[in-house]
Amino acid sequence: MVNQAHGGSLICRELKETEKEEAVRNAEKLSALMVNSWVLSDMELIGTGGFSPLTGFMGQADYENVVEHTRLANDTIWSIPITLPVTEEQAQDFHIGEQIALKGKDGILYGTITLEEKYTYDKKKEAFHIYGTTDAAHPGVKKVYEQGNIYLGGPITLFQRPNHSPFTAYYMDPAETRQMFADLGWQTIVGFQTRNPVHRAHEYIQKTALETVDGLLLNPLVGDTKSDDIPPDVRMESYEVILKNYYVEDRVRLVIYPAAMRYAGPREAILHAIVRKNYGCTHFIVGRDHAGVGDYYGTYDAQVLIGQYGEELGIQILKFEHAFYCEICENMATGKTCPHGKENHVHLSGTKVREMLRNGKRPPKEFSRPEVADVLIKGMQDKE
Ligand code: ADX
Repeated sequence: MVNQAHGGSLICRELKETEKEEAVRNAEKLSALMVNSWVLSDMELIGTGGFSPLTGFMGQADYENVVEHTRLANDTIWSIPITLPVTEEQAQDFHIGEQIALKGKDGILYGTITLEEKYTYDKKKEAFHIYGTTDAAHPGVKKVYEQGNIYLGGPITLFQRPNHSPFTAYYMDPAETRQMFADLGWQTIVGFQTRNPVHRAHEYIQKTALETVDGLLLNPLVGDTKSDDIPPDVRMESYEVILKNYYVEDRVRLVIYPAAMRYAGPREAILHAIVRKNYGCTHFIVGRDHAGVGDYYGTYDAQVLIGQYGEELGIQILKFEHAFYCEICENMATGKTCPHGKENHVHLSGTKVREMLRNGKRPPKEFSRPEVADVLIKGMQDKE
């Protein structure tokens, strides 16, 4: 059975084609707010139900409750503020009750918000609760500090989804993934979040999960990431080659997750699980340092936090310990399955791997499949 959406039903805040023309004509007369790609990706996920049960950008009661208690005002589990920040000057132009047109930097009208609330918020408090640090060097915290001081809250209507070219072949909304799982006859589906190429450790935990569920939704995040992460076009090509060469075609589907990366570690793991529940997944993988960055989170902090919610979360969390290749076992393993010392384990830091790839060197095949390494080498060199 495809999983129930978070909060009970899949939200749709998107206009149908037939309703669009008149709504767009009306919206052209509204005050407009220009929004960035991050906000657009949030609008899309609200509009298509990926962020069910949210119907818009959070008002103060939801926001405060999420920050302090990891729940919406009605007690539903929710871990990351989904907010529309503006400057104080911008906020003065908008009045409660009015509809505001939300436009991209490309001038396209993506939708509207019905303004219900304008409120100030405590940036340090948000940083501390959500990111676990107030350090401005943290990429998520930096973004909070740089954004406007006022949040606009209210329901949205989505007119237009952002363009996902060149990945449109891998785009599906939650209603479509749900239908696809039903058509495939998958009863149990494990969702996998990543912002990286699939290395051997990822492959190992995915396939270990696949031994007990019907199918895998490989669901790489392709929205905003920090500049030193591998860009999505290169990653998508790496996913194609690894799936083609090492996975059973009938057991995996590659679909992009069009969200921005927060790097909020434990709090973001909960969001990631909720969204995959909305996509219809019944299981979700949380491995080592999920959605982490630098040394801000402990290796298993995300597993500990998400574990506190148990069945209430409505999606089964598959926790995996740090996985590696062991030279003595001659296979992938974790501390649960390999008795040998660390000196026998193939370990490479992200920095080291990037350096090898930039120099045109394949990391060892125990770390990354050669086909994947070749795509990454070419991708890194093309970018430079
Ligand atoms: S992220 O989106 O969570 O930041 P990343 O690609 O680093 O992406 O990890 C994807 C998933 O694989 C996460 O659940 C993470 O915990 C898990 N993971 C990554 N590397 C390992 C590893 N070596 N061992 C176990 N789990 C891992």
